[in-house]
Amino acid sequence: MVFGVILAGGTGSRMGNFEKPKQFLTIGDRPVIIHTIEKFFVNDKFEKIIVLCPANWISHASGLVKKYIGETKRVVIIEGGSTRNETIMNSINYIEENYGLGDDIVIVTHDSVRPFVTYRIIEENISLAEKYGACDTVIPATDTIVKGENGYISDIPDRRAMYQGQTPQSFKAKKLKELYMSLTETERAILTDAAKIFVMKGEKVYLVEGEVFNIKITYPYDLKVAEALIKGDMDVC
Ligand code: CTP
Repeated sequence: MVFGVILAGGTGSRMGNFEKPKQFLTIGDRPVIIHTIEKFFVNDKFEKIIVLCPANWISHASGLVKKYIGETKRVVIIEGGSTRNETIMNSINYIEENYGLGDDIVIVTHDSVRPFVTYRIIEENISLAEKYGACDTVIPATDTIVKGENGYISDIPDRRAMYQGQTPQSFKAKKLKELYMSLTETERAILTDAAKIFVMKGEKVYLVEGEVFNIKITYPYDLKVAEALIKGDMDVC
């Protein structure tokens, strides 16, 4: 069984002073989060698409889904957690309570603020996670990556082996939960990336080729780029 997990539990502090979290801002004719949910909704491999929001935004999100997608039991909206990984854990707990946590359950976790994910990327995530247990979407690094410490360069890794992480990140849910539970509080606190949980524990995470336009809306600048992409001013997707 495959579940879409749309991570919308953040408040978007780096966006600055908007009246709502960035996932609820509008690009084109619909909110960012709706564009993202639609990309998952059209794939019938998903048993359910679980959307996780801050508690005080759940009814707003439900209203948006009704308005733009219609009455559906395939999208459920529940509360996110205090960190991104805790939000993912809430989705796994929901699955466990409602379906049990069998070895075959795969979650395709995706940032609600990456509305340009493609059908191809989602399909490859599902198939690699089913086959290998974990995968991550990446694009080759275009800039040289420089590691800095105390104000100077400590390393310049070979760019040919460097990638930029995107989402989706997809996992066998039971394995992810087991690995997460085996971390110490300190390890959990420093981990911002779910794929890293697998890497830290010596598990293989396979690479899915992302797209340059699969951007994450983080800063006001990204919102302008997203608006241009939607309008087709930037002819890339
Ligand atoms: N996210 C989440 N639960 C959290 C924190 C983040 O589901 N507790 C989600 C965000 O809603 C977003 C995605 O993870 O869709 C990527 O995170 P990021 O861009 O860092 O979002 P925010 O945490 O909202 O932004 P900021 O770091 O600027 O506050």
